[in-house]
Amino acid sequence: MLKMFFRFAVLNDLAISRHLSRLLPLVLVGVLAACDQSPKGNLQQSASPLSDFTVYKREQCGCCNDWITHIEKAGYSALQENVSDFDSIKDKFGIPAKLRSCHTSVSQKGYLFEGHIPAKFIRQFLEEKPVDAIGLAVPAMPTGSPGMEFGDMFMPYTIYLIQRDGSYSVYASVKTYKEQF
Ligand code: CU
Ligand code: CU
Repeated sequence: MLKMFFRFAVLNDLAISRHLSRLLPLVLVGVLAACDQSPKGNLQQSASPLSDFTVYKREQCGCCNDWITHIEKAGYSALQENVSDFDSIKDKFGIPAKLRSCHTSVSQKGYLFEGHIPAKFIRQFLEEKPVDAIGLAVPAMPTGSPGMEFGDMFMPYTIYLIQRDGSYSVYASVKTYKEQF
C-alpha cells in the first residue's frame, strides 16, 4: 500500500515538474523580452513607508518603471522593491500562475495588483472592495497598456479579479486605448 502511494507520488511529481519546465522558460522569456524593449532610464526611488503601493520588480525593468510613472501621475505613491527571485514573491502572495506579469504591487491594506493595470481600474477596485477578492491582474504584458506603449499600437486585454481561494474571473475587458484612462 505504502509502496503504491509512493510510486503514485513520484509519478505525479514528475508529471508536474515536466509540465512546469515546459511552461516556465516561455513565460520568462516573454516577460524578459518585453521588459528589455523599453529601457527608458531610471526613476528616482521613493522610500516612504507611507506609500500607497509597494511594487516588487526587477531593477532594470523599463516597463515596470513606466507603469510606476503612470500610477504616480494618477496620484498614487509607490515604494519600489527590486527583487531577483520573482516566482517566490508571486508564490508568497498567491498570484495564480496563469495571471503573472512582470511586477507585483501590494497596497497598504494588502490588496494585490499584478502587472500593467491602468490606475483607473485600481481606483475602481479600491472603492468597490469586491467581497472575497484579493486583487486584480493583467497577465503578461499587453502592448499599449500603461507602461507598455509602443507608438500607437494597442492590443485588447482582460483584467482579472482574483478571489481569496485562488480562482479568478473577468473584471474588465479593455478593448481600446482610450478606455484605460
Ligand atoms: Cu512589464
Ligand atoms: Cu513591470
